[in-house]
Amino acid sequence: MEKRESFGSGFGVLVAMAGSAVGLGNLWRFPYLVGTNGGAAFIIIYLAFVFLLALPIMYSEFIVGRRSQANVFGAYKVLAPKTGWCNVGLVYVMASLFIISFYCVVGGWTINYFWKSVTFRFTTADTAVLGDMFNNTVTSNSEPLIFMLIFLIATALIVMAGIKDGIERYTKVMMPILFVIVVVVAVRSVTLPGSAAGLEFLFKPDFSLVTGKTLLDALGQAFFSLSIGCGTIMTYGSYVSKKENIAGLSAQTAMTDTLFAIIAGLAIMPAVFAFGISPSEGPGLVFVTLPYIFAQLPFGAFLAILFFFMLFIAAITSSISQLEVIVSYLIEEFRMSRKLAITLSVSVITVFGVLCSLSQGTLADVKIFGYNFFDFFDTTSANILLPLGGFFAVIFVGWKMKRPDVVDEFTSGGMRKYSRFFLNFSYYSIKYLAPIVVAVVLISGLI
Ligand code: PFF
Repeated sequence: MEKRESFGSGFGVLVAMAGSAVGLGNLWRFPYLVGTNGGAAFIIIYLAFVFLLALPIMYSEFIVGRRSQANVFGAYKVLAPKTGWCNVGLVYVMASLFIISFYCVVGGWTINYFWKSVTFRFTTADTAVLGDMFNNTVTSNSEPLIFMLIFLIATALIVMAGIKDGIERYTKVMMPILFVIVVVVAVRSVTLPGSAAGLEFLFKPDFSLVTGKTLLDALGQAFFSLSIGCGTIMTYGSYVSKKENIAGLSAQTAMTDTLFAIIAGLAIMPAVFAFGISPSEGPGLVFVTLPYIFAQLPFGAFLAILFFFMLFIAAITSSISQLEVIVSYLIEEFRMSRKLAITLSVSVITVFGVLCSLSQGTLADVKIFGYNFFDFFDTTSANILLPLGGFFAVIFVGWKMKRPDVVDEFTSGGMRKYSRFFLNFSYYSIKYLAPIVVAVVLISGLI
């Protein structure tokens, strides 16, 4: 078996975690969920979930990962030997597999659209033409599959290079670029004439549209966007040295991700309203609406290149974290080499990815529980598997681990001095608050 790797620095851990969190969830999924769920009310509920749940669940995943120094399955085996807890690890592996299967399809669209922007294909300001362009892009039986494969191979190459020389090295360069680009696009969007309606949509809530489904969507989005509940943080946490600050890293990751979601909202919604488009376009929002907008702006062609490049970077820094969950599990539990583990997982993901991609066209009528493959993988992972994974993590840390062990890990063996209040608050959020909120929303949403 290979020697266990680790991150090179605290900053490296932070950018890797933030890189995992900030992704298509912020730039592609969040805006269309906000649009289809009525705007500001959804955002407020989303923020409440982030605030209530993100930290306790992140702490728990971190504690399990770092204390055990093992993959998601092995971690529970180390901390609770001879119990059934290790099977929880399989929920994470399955969630990661489901997510990356549709994520790589959208990742492929981002490369495709980046290519289209570089070759100046968004010159028309006709939404029908752009709508058709998107439709053709995603429903074809060949083009999206090729781009999906390119995306997967790029992901695999980074993961192949390992933690410090792959994941850490690339995210360190890509994340700052991403931040600068999103701010540039947001500034342009907010300064368009007529953008005020978009700001109102983002910040003035109408709670009459809120249903159980809205709550579940917001919960699922919070989990999805923060990459919690599928073992990413547990896996990254297992490569982190004892001296790093769990509370600080978690809070910084959650803040970065939330800030990004809001800035992404500012980059998209004001422009959508300024051009009189419906915000409830759905998943096509960034791929149809934005090219339309770019086509009409001065320097729009340049902004389009920046924007789709940014989408691609955001996507790949997240997909590597999904792949690492699966790969580390295979390496450590089945004694595979990294190369074999990656080859095997990418092969399975390719099969699932092809199904997800074809479900946009040829296989549109093949349904599982009423969903096509793409929506099935998306909805079951975000709305069911991730909340379940998060639930198990907090239950494990709050109820199965001994409190002194939890505190020892949380404080890096007593190295970090926290007030009694902060320690108690964090511990009881893990033990009571997080599991109750997740259970209630999950059950009510499913009913
Ligand atoms: N957080 C990522 C995003 O917002 O796009 C998606 C994601 C990454 C989900 C990694 C789950 C995960 F393990």
